[in-house]
Amino acid sequence: MEKTATIQIGDRSYEYPVIVGTENEKAIDIRKLRSDSGYISYDDGYANTGSCTSDITYVDGEKGILRHRGYSIEQLSESSSFMEMVWLLIYGELPRKADFDEFREKVRRGAHVHEDLKHHYLGFPPRSHPMAILSSMLNALGCYYPEMATNNRETDLERFDEAAAVLVSKVRTLAAMAYRNDRGLPYIYPRKDLRYSENFLHMMFSEPYNEFTDIHGLGHALDLFFLLHADHEQNCSTSTVRMVASGGANLFASVSAGVSALWGPLHGGANTAVIQMLEEIRDSGDDGTRFIEMAKSGKSLMMGFGHRVYKNYDPRAKILGNMTDKVLASLGKKDPLLDIARRLEEAALNDDYFISRKLYPNVDFYSGIILKAIGIPMEMFTVMFAIGRMPGWIANWKEIAEAPKGKIHRPRQIYMGKSERDYIPIENR
Ligand code: SDX
Repeated sequence: MEKTATIQIGDRSYEYPVIVGTENEKAIDIRKLRSDSGYISYDDGYANTGSCTSDITYVDGEKGILRHRGYSIEQLSESSSFMEMVWLLIYGELPRKADFDEFREKVRRGAHVHEDLKHHYLGFPPRSHPMAILSSMLNALGCYYPEMATNNRETDLERFDEAAAVLVSKVRTLAAMAYRNDRGLPYIYPRKDLRYSENFLHMMFSEPYNEFTDIHGLGHALDLFFLLHADHEQNCSTSTVRMVASGGANLFASVSAGVSALWGPLHGGANTAVIQMLEEIRDSGDDGTRFIEMAKSGKSLMMGFGHRVYKNYDPRAKILGNMTDKVLASLGKKDPLLDIARRLEEAALNDDYFISRKLYPNVDFYSGIILKAIGIPMEMFTVMFAIGRMPGWIANWKEIAEAPKGKIHRPRQIYMGKSERDYIPIENR
């Protein structure tokens, strides 16, 4: 196994240590490259660049492996729960019963928000996107817990456990309030006798004098949805959280930035874009062939397909694909979009354009169909992703905050603009 790597520049060679990860991934530690040689590396999109070492999640994109703190996503989705995943990601181990019971009670009792937070929702114009609202409301939430959002690292770490429980619990409430406010519906207070995901559905869909009752086990399906979205290495939004945290910003501000990053259609916004794509195919009467041709010509993207890391089937997509059938069956529903999705997947996985580029369904390909079946409106799909990803963002913030001598993230660039020139007064231009 090579212990060093040599970079030859002109007649000079530079030797750098090789870092080897738990799963034998290798990296060249070039932290001294610029001071040694005056050169920097260039890697737009960071496809070849490790921004950190981390103990939280491991993805092997070639083999389609996803593990959280060493446990496979298959085992966790079979045997665990979203709340247990939250604890595992944040604290590194599966919880002992006493700890877990205490944590769940804290999350259960902490679902309500300060009454004054309601006023913030009145400031958003009708049809404001709930991701814009959620990002704003997470920072607003931090204002009600100033003792946990001080931007003094030591203090914020001392209050970390409480802040983490506040965010995990209340992100649901803020999301449900955005949904209800937009429809002019009365806010529904959380109940302390309901499990995490059922309580969310209660806050979303109960009406005064007509409580939402989870007769189809949708709470379990949503819990599995949240679990599958909980963390995924240094994806766009998690890297954003780490970037913001590296400057010393508190947990509320950092996850608020993560929500904004997740919103993009190439990232968490893809679950919405997949449904729009499937509906477009359905309404066009096309069997998907024309759409695949458009994707192959570069005129459009097959949303829910492809991944920066997975060059194999995203294991989460496999689980969600199976889950879709179960959720629809439990509701006694059929969804023509599922048939279109299955046909599209079949066609793409047999088409050289997708095979040669190793484009497979990713976590977003089936998730929208499940959310639609549960009754979540499309504009809330990425909010669901954000609720699921909250523990991953919190765990990554903690890694940054606890890093001894943690450095602010400040990438360099290669300037390609104008060289130095003199100012010309406006009368002479
Ligand atoms: C998530 O990083 C994470 O872990 C993210 C995530 C998480 O849990 O946090 O897994 C969640 O964001 C999943 C991805 C959701 N996004 C989508 O489904 C949007 C559609 N996918 C593409 O935009 C794309 O696949 C990305 C953004 C996901 C990945 O893009 P890359 O790694 O930058 O790949 P690329 O754009 O360089 O594509 C390589 C080739 C190109 O063709 P060529 O230039 O070689 O001819 O593959 C093509 C691309 O045009 N390609 C696609 C395609 N994705 C890539 N062609 C058609 N449809 C697609 N979806």
